[in-house]
Amino acid sequence: MKKRIVLLPGDGIGKEVMESAKEVLTAIAEEYNHTFSFETHEIGGAAIDLYGTPLPDPTVEACKQADAVLLGAVGGPKWDQNLSHLRPERGLLGIRKALDLYANLRPIKGFKNLLHASPLKEEVVAGSDLLIVRELTGGIYFGTPSERRENGQVVVDTLSYTRYEIERIVDKAFQAARSRRGRLASVDKANVLESSKVWREVVEEKKAQYPDVEVEHVLVDAAAMKLITNPSHFDVIVTENMFGDILSDEASVLTGSLGMLPSASLNESGVGLYEPVHGSAPDIAGKGIANPTAMILSAALMLRYSFELEEEAKLIENAVQSALDSGYHTADLQVPNGRLVGTKVMTRLIVDYIKTQNASKCIASCYY
Ligand SMILES: NC(=O)c1ccc[n+]([C@@H]2O[C@H](COP(=O)([O-])OP(=O)(O)OC[C@H]3O[C@@H](n4cnc5c(N)ncnc54)[C@H](O)[C@@H]3O)[C@@H](O)[C@H]2O)c1
Repeated sequence: MKKRIVLLPGDGIGKEVMESAKEVLTAIAEEYNHTFSFETHEIGGAAIDLYGTPLPDPTVEACKQADAVLLGAVGGPKWDQNLSHLRPERGLLGIRKALDLYANLRPIKGFKNLLHASPLKEEVVAGSDLLIVRELTGGIYFGTPSERRENGQVVVDTLSYTRYEIERIVDKAFQAARSRRGRLASVDKANVLESSKVWREVVEEKKAQYPDVEVEHVLVDAAAMKLITNPSHFDVIVTENMFGDILSDEASVLTGSLGMLPSASLNESGVGLYEPVHGSAPDIAGKGIANPTAMILSAALMLRYSFELEEEAKLIENAVQSALDSGYHTADLQVPNGRLVGTKVMTRLIVDYIKTQNASKCIASCYY
């Protein structure tokens, strides 16, 4: 398979973890005889420094031509005082919009060796393995700004969805559930909101097309509770933009390790932007200690969702699992009796596993 991948390393540790993802993808290409070509472009603070804008036109053009885009992270104190249109984060919002990325997918999985770092009891979080599918381009975040205030005394935010916008995200979630454990929780506030009632209608209509998927409707307040009392109850959660924003951040702390969480944002043609959930971590940038796994797992999502290379994606995930199971970890993770390594060695361990598909060889061939 031939694929053109645009790399947007961005700022801070974004550049470091992007190198790791590239190494892992190169190993996958060698193992499976794929041709992945990489093209690197600037975004965020790095783009402001070079081009005076967080999202230069050549970056947008390259992303539009690409089969998939990998993004590191943007931002940092250097640009914190900039005017709003010159903030690095503008680059991120701009590229999501330019690519019309309407579906945000965040898998959250508890890794055995890291469960003690969860703010929840280990027995509660053990076995958690869920995917949040969030609608990204509609809802209350996109109401018309001019409608929001009337003489300063009344304030209005408008939550609007077209039926089509709901249908396409619900379809995406059903498909994801089908490829996982076949369970879908649709989260809404149908006891209050009209938009949620339509959301629920659409899910009910779509159900007939996916008879192999078991569906439940959960009110958002109950979902927020269940996520921390019984997270392993969930397989796939689908919800609208604002509920998804809040629930995905709540769920991201379940596993206690920000450096482990990947994400995918997809458009209708299957082109996706894949990025870690974490930011540019200016406090550790340049020290060689960043955890590369969220970025590497984002590359695995790219193989799964944009290229339909499930076996290759699984191999990367198994490689990450194997490194962790062998006790290796970066400084952001506390692993009792673990073996502390930096970004490069963690990457090397994962690459070695991909090449040998054997944890013990992978450990033996590593250098410290
Ligand atoms: N998607 C993005 O690009 C994105 C997301 C969030 C924040 N940001 C930006 O990043 C900058 C820093 O933000 P922040 O400090 O609030 O969030 P952050 O995610 O960058 O860092 C939070 C903490 O987690 C640690 N951390 C994060 N990722 C890590 C990794 N892979 N390995 C080891 N440790 C890791 C950091 O060292 C820091 O202590 C800001 O400019 C912010 O706007 C960007």
